[in-house]
Amino acid sequence: MTPSPINIPVIAIDGPSASGKGTVAERVASVLGFHFLDSGALYRLTALSAMKHGVALDNEAGVAALAAALPATFHDGAVWLAEENVTEAIRAEAVGEGASKVAALPAVRVALLDRQRAYRQAPGLVADGRDMGTVVFADAVAKVFLTASAEARAERRYKQLIEKGNSANLPALVADMQARDARDTARAVAPLKPASDALLIDTTNMDIDSAVQAVLAHYRSKQGN
Ligand code: C5P
Repeated sequence: MTPSPINIPVIAIDGPSASGKGTVAERVASVLGFHFLDSGALYRLTALSAMKHGVALDNEAGVAALAAALPATFHDGAVWLAEENVTEAIRAEAVGEGASKVAALPAVRVALLDRQRAYRQAPGLVADGRDMGTVVFADAVAKVFLTASAEARAERRYKQLIEKGNSANLPALVADMQARDARDTARAVAPLKPASDALLIDTTNMDIDSAVQAVLAHYRSKQGN
């Protein structure tokens, strides 16, 4: 694969689950007319693929082989694994849990690197994940770390689940959130942490619009540097 065209601007938005980064990243991309990468979806697709193929989530070589050849596409507003629309399936809590397990395997992360970098296309990219600013796009022009308290994030997830007609248990969600954060933060490779040059935005008491404006202002302040 050809190397990333480094003159194409990347805005890296990292943070823990349900910090609002997905929504913020998508809106920023739409305001600027940039491409959008939801890197978490690739880890979720890898976990789902392993589950479907009966590959154990700690089988590093087996899961990495699936990740390298993932027949994943994003089109028609949906996420596809080969011919199957898995938009809803990859959002299941069990798949998120699985994603966080396979994401701790170094060979899986390597297998997904080129695929993520290939999203760097003109006129620019907004990339959302855990290691966009630290690893995948370490040369991003603007880096943001979005965070919020575990309770606030669990409450957002709770509302989303209830709105979709699912049942949900708030204390269990807080516990899941903390377990996932601990795994993402403690792992040896590409742990969840702000890049040294990232702007920290705490969205605990902030609405989405304000977070979007803060990211845009940060990007504009970096342009021309
Ligand atoms: O962002 P999302 O919740 O969809 O990501 C699912 C899981 O994938 C995360 O809990 C994390 O373990 C992993 N992930 C990662 N690196 C990324 C994006 C996601 O390790 N860049």
